[in-house]
Amino acid sequence: MNRIPFISGNWKMYKTGSEAVETAKKLVDLCFDVKNVEVMIAPSFLSLPLVAACVQGTHVKIGAQNLYFEKEGAFTGEVSAGMIKTAGAEYVIIGHSERRQYFGETDTSVCRKLRSAINEGLKPIMCIGETETERDQEKTFLILDKQVSDGLKGFGSDELKDLVLAYEPVWAIGTGKTANTKQVNEVHQYLRSLLCKSFSKDFSSRTRILYGGSVKPENVKELMSIKDVDGALVGGASLDPDKFIKIIKYYL
Ligand code: 13P
Repeated sequence: MNRIPFISGNWKMYKTGSEAVETAKKLVDLCFDVKNVEVMIAPSFLSLPLVAACVQGTHVKIGAQNLYFEKEGAFTGEVSAGMIKTAGAEYVIIGHSERRQYFGETDTSVCRKLRSAINEGLKPIMCIGETETERDQEKTFLILDKQVSDGLKGFGSDELKDLVLAYEPVWAIGTGKTANTKQVNEVHQYLRSLLCKSFSKDFSSRTRILYGGSVKPENVKELMSIKDVDGALVGGASLDPDKFIKIIKYYL
């Protein structure tokens, strides 16, 4: 099954509106000859409509970094899937480890958020990954298994046709530490077989599994050439278009 590679940038809580627009414009220019690889950036909610307007009709797609699962209501400070979709996003990141760590996100809320994204026609990027302690205690596969099965509980494979999984070992995020080839390979292989076991072989071979955690131009070749890695979710290096384009161009 042919999976189109996917390079996505999570801008986290960086860049004001004007900085975000400037960065996005530069990225669009740099992407003029990009093909056969999907490119997405996820700015903050405030910058999202501005950035969406300036990338419209280009190769660069937009994602949000989070959503709230209710349609609307008295939920101060929250943003719904419908609002995100109308603002111009195609993707939404769900269950990022920073949301799990600092904002009490659980597998149950991840599951509800997925439901809400899918109902609105947003494509979900579901993040999973173990902490350093969990890896040291040899619980990596156990944790990933739980995050996948609880996060995707109740879904049929047809509903998950646009699902993207992102494996982001927590200990490799923003630390400069990258998982080594062997670690990434065994986890991605494990996730592929888990999707096969939980859904079907066809579903598993169609679903893209990204790696995230200190991906940069210097290590992109090593990481992206791993068989079951279909792209990257990039944090720090996606903030600089000159670095981000080097990651994207691995696939050209
Ligand atoms: P870094 O690339 O900065 O390690 O962040 C990864 C990440 O969290 C992407 O969602």
